[in-house]
Amino acid sequence: MSARHEIEITVNGRSYRRSVEPRLLLHDFLRQELGLTGTHAGCDHGVCGACTVMIDGHSTRACLTFAVQTDGASVETVESLGPPEKLSPIQEAFREFHALQCGFCTPGMLMTCLDLLQKYPLATDEEIREGLSGNLCRCTGYQHIVEAVRAVAQQRREMPQ
Ligand code: FES
Ligand code: FES
Repeated sequence: MSARHEIEITVNGRSYRRSVEPRLLLHDFLRQELGLTGTHAGCDHGVCGACTVMIDGHSTRACLTFAVQTDGASVETVESLGPPEKLSPIQEAFREFHALQCGFCTPGMLMTCLDLLQKYPLATDEEIREGLSGNLCRCTGYQHIVEAVRAVAQQRREMPQ
């Protein structure tokens, strides 16, 4: 039996201390230990992007990260974005532009979009598509997702600094 490790982690602004097995994946930790089921597990091989969360400000595959690796880190999941009655700009744009159907890829898409919007101007559709190329969606054909991101990127570029 493998030894357990104590970790301290901040998730969506709240601190947790837990004892975890070294093999526990971050998405299982978030879903099973913390009850944050917004983060989805799809391929479990780093391919689909459904499990994407932010770790210390960078979008990261939770299926390729062990929970022990996040000791001392700050993690944001899709639950950090906004409740239904107060959607964040990217959630609101997904709603407005019909950028989701079954919604399975959506948490990972949203967290990837958040990271992209914070780091890049996303002035062209090519830039948006390249940024989203690590997230797979079986439903939408991507066009509506690109339109949603384009709208938020434009709003951000036009915001007074
Ligand atoms: S579940 Fe992590 S990339 Fe697919
Ligand atoms: S909305 Fe169904 S997989 Fe993307």
